[in-house]
Amino acid sequence: MASEYLIDLNDHENSWKSVSVGRTPDGQINSKVGTVIPAEGPRQMFWMLDTIMYAMPPGTDPDKNHMPHEHRYGYETFFVDSGKMWLYIDGMKCLVTKGDILHLQAAQTHGMAFIEDVKYRGTYHDLKVDPDMPALNNIIEHIPEVKDDPEFMNLMPSVKSGLDMIPREPLLFREVPAEQCRAVRNPKRPLAEYRLDGVTMKILTERWENAGANELCCAEMEPGFTAEWMKYPKNRELLYLRKGKIRFKVMNEEFVAYDECLINIPKFAPHSLQVLEKSELYDLGGLTFWSSFLHDYMSIKVNDPDRLMPEVINELKDKFNCQIKRIGRS
Ligand SMILES: [Fe+2]
Repeated sequence: MASEYLIDLNDHENSWKSVSVGRTPDGQINSKVGTVIPAEGPRQMFWMLDTIMYAMPPGTDPDKNHMPHEHRYGYETFFVDSGKMWLYIDGMKCLVTKGDILHLQAAQTHGMAFIEDVKYRGTYHDLKVDPDMPALNNIIEHIPEVKDDPEFMNLMPSVKSGLDMIPREPLLFREVPAEQCRAVRNPKRPLAEYRLDGVTMKILTERWENAGANELCCAEMEPGFTAEWMKYPKNRELLYLRKGKIRFKVMNEEFVAYDECLINIPKFAPHSLQVLEKSELYDLGGLTFWSSFLHDYMSIKVNDPDRLMPEVINELKDKFNCQIKRIGRS
């Protein structure tokens, strides 16, 4: 791997820290779930799983077989990076394809059926997990056969209760286009969009849709665009380069990130970027209040442009935890 801060999601050997295999009730493998980054902190943030969801066997009726369930506490945001699937949610059924993003909120019952194999990449927060889960994963990494030993697995309350996951009956629905389903997000239809020189910032999920924990913003950047963060940024950061090519400098390492790579940046680590090819970069950590920051910046620019002085911008950055020192073009 080029750098310890770069994670190529298609290089499963290096990106998947542990793998669990999902099966249908009749024993067929229907998914492989790789843990890329374990949950962090009291709200279980930065948790990143990369899943291959396998196409349902021919003859399966998706309307009766779509794994309906709800989470009482947890929020899930999934990138659909290949294939096609049906999503059932909010009394609707819609076709979801490559490029879409699903945002599934606590207690929002959902189900899915996979028409083709789908790269289904998710970040989570507030999903109630067993405090023994890291210990469980550690044992499984060293002795994989414990997964088949009921004596061991019964020690895990979360395994017995199925985590924060309550199964439901097949969902009733009317079929609609994905555009009509609020749970389906896409950078082509952002909630808000702010154009700056060399970068367009798109808000895809709002903080109020994440119980205040975070938000999802995408930066669409032109070649030559550069950004430099504060000397010691106080946010731990996780970025997803879904498409494009970007040169990063993180601490003393320089590397080039490309399609479907995560950039995993520790708190306080000095870093900067230079865009080499048109890029679509997502802030998965979501600790910066991008939606508020960009809105207020643009509001001042429109309503009171004389106020747009460095000290006012610095105040906004401080207020909304924006740790970027400078943007520009090389
Ligand atoms: Fe779910």
